[in-house]
Amino acid sequence: MVREIITYPNKLLKQPSKDVTRFDAELHTLLDDMYETMLAKNGIGLAAIQVAVPLNALIINLPNEDDKQVKEDLVEVINPKILEMDGTTVYTEGCLSVPEYYEDVQRAEWIKVSYLDRHGNEIIKEYDGLMAIAFQHECDHLKGELFIEKLSYLKRKKFEKEWKKRLKNKK
Ligand code: CO
Repeated sequence: MVREIITYPNKLLKQPSKDVTRFDAELHTLLDDMYETMLAKNGIGLAAIQVAVPLNALIINLPNEDDKQVKEDLVEVINPKILEMDGTTVYTEGCLSVPEYYEDVQRAEWIKVSYLDRHGNEIIKEYDGLMAIAFQHECDHLKGELFIEKLSYLKRKKFEKEWKKRLKNKK
């Protein structure tokens, strides 16, 4: 089922999420719904808090070499921890909770992470490239942070101005 994605400045997006403790049907439904919702909105990543569920769960599904998003590449991440990070990289990011806004963000180029799958099995991985960037972006959501909080003071000011104008026009 496609769920509603909450958008900035909804205060829920600032709420830190809690660890998943039960790897049951409810969690699996949440993950399945998050996948449907992400695809419906043409996203490559989604955190549970974006569908108003404050749990440490996120999904990432990057397009493959043929630029196709296939379910085999879906990564489901529960209770993630970033163990190590190295290097810096800049990428123009977007977010389904800040629709139609894109800006350069600096992040670590390489990360080593641990997380659990939907059944509670521990996984340890090293990521670089877009996967490392997306992983860090989604982990920030779990801490209650959006990518716009990483912008410089001036860019943030400009964003707030544009966003206010946009919200007004939507009414
Ligand atoms: Co996001």
